[in-house]
Amino acid sequence: MSSDIHVGDPLLVIEDLKLEFKTEEGTVKALDGINITVKKGEIHGVIGETGCGKSVTSLTTLGLLDNNARIRGGEVLYKGVNLLKMNDEDLRQKIRGNEISMIFQNPSTSLNPVYTAGEQIKESVVIYQSDDKKEAQKLVLDELDRVKLPDPEDVYDKYPHELSGGMQQRVMIAMMLACNSNLLIADEPTTALDVSIQAQFLKILRGLKESRDLSILYITHDMAVISEICDVVTVMYGGQIAEKADVHELFKNPKHPYTIGLIHSVPGVMESIEEFETIPGTVPRLINPPSGCRFHPRCEYAREICKEKKPELEEIEKDHFVACHFWEEVE
Ligand SMILES: Nc1ncnc2c1ncn2[C@@H]1O[C@H](COP(=O)(O)OP(=O)(O)OP(=O)(O)O)[C@@H](O)[C@H]1O
Ligand code: SF4
Ligand SMILES: [Mg+2]
Repeated sequence: MSSDIHVGDPLLVIEDLKLEFKTEEGTVKALDGINITVKKGEIHGVIGETGCGKSVTSLTTLGLLDNNARIRGGEVLYKGVNLLKMNDEDLRQKIRGNEISMIFQNPSTSLNPVYTAGEQIKESVVIYQSDDKKEAQKLVLDELDRVKLPDPEDVYDKYPHELSGGMQQRVMIAMMLACNSNLLIADEPTTALDVSIQAQFLKILRGLKESRDLSILYITHDMAVISEICDVVTVMYGGQIAEKADVHELFKNPKHPYTIGLIHSVPGVMESIEEFETIPGTVPRLINPPSGCRFHPRCEYAREICKEKKPELEEIEKDHFVACHFWEEVE
């Protein structure tokens, strides 16, 4: 695996990924041609409403899909190596933890209930930093301190159920830091955190990007968080990509009706709750997804062709991609 990757080079390249799940009710067409490139030193946001395929995209990358999943096409290249062709043993030994680490959506189910927080972080420290017992313990306390947990010695000996959701999330982050990986996949990492802690957490991530050139794939449904932390954004809808651009370009010049809906659904400081614009309708079920453009039942610009033909992702300006037949008309 090449280590000759510099800031700005592609680190993770997800190409035309197609994924289905077999269920009793039928086949869930969860991902329909997903393309995402995360560059070295970049924070790449993935945004979309519930069920659009954010988590399954990241789980595919680490080979952690449920047994009923079927990959129907595409590649996931990490440093040029296709992770979809790697066996579980190699993924565990060579990729998970040391190259790519992940903070899962729900920290309480990701931490092991029978080990203390300190013991769990120590496991990563021993593998990736030092197997000297005394030194490992000191490194764990350093990691707990780095994520601003008050009284690291006390937290070290606590079991997950003795910690609040926010503290559990920080323990997860400390475990991730102990791995010294090159890519972090963070799936809704701030859902269990209150607003001030969330701001500190985003600061920690930005610091890691700057000090270590850490690349981050940051999954969220929160446009405000995206604007705060990301360099580049991919907008997903119903297992497809709607739009992708540099974060400033996306907020200044959104071209997909769905992106515009997401941006308008973020409450502005002066608006009252009644004035929030939300996107009408609900997210589609992916057993029988809408034909053509999957957004058409909710789109005010939709016409006949939108039901018949899936819009291709088109580069409308340098590094700004949109999948919409009528992006030129969208205001
Ligand atoms: N094991 C499974 N079997 C069947 N369908 C599944 C399975 N796992 C995920 N799905 C379906 O795949 C689609 C994408 O799910 P995913 O968890 O990636 O959504 P998400 O964008 O992360 O949503 P959220 O914001 O709620 O976390 C959904 O329709 C979901 O129901
Ligand atoms: S392709 Fe049609 S339905 Fe889809 S977003 Fe564009 S206008 Fe709306
Ligand atoms: Mg999810």
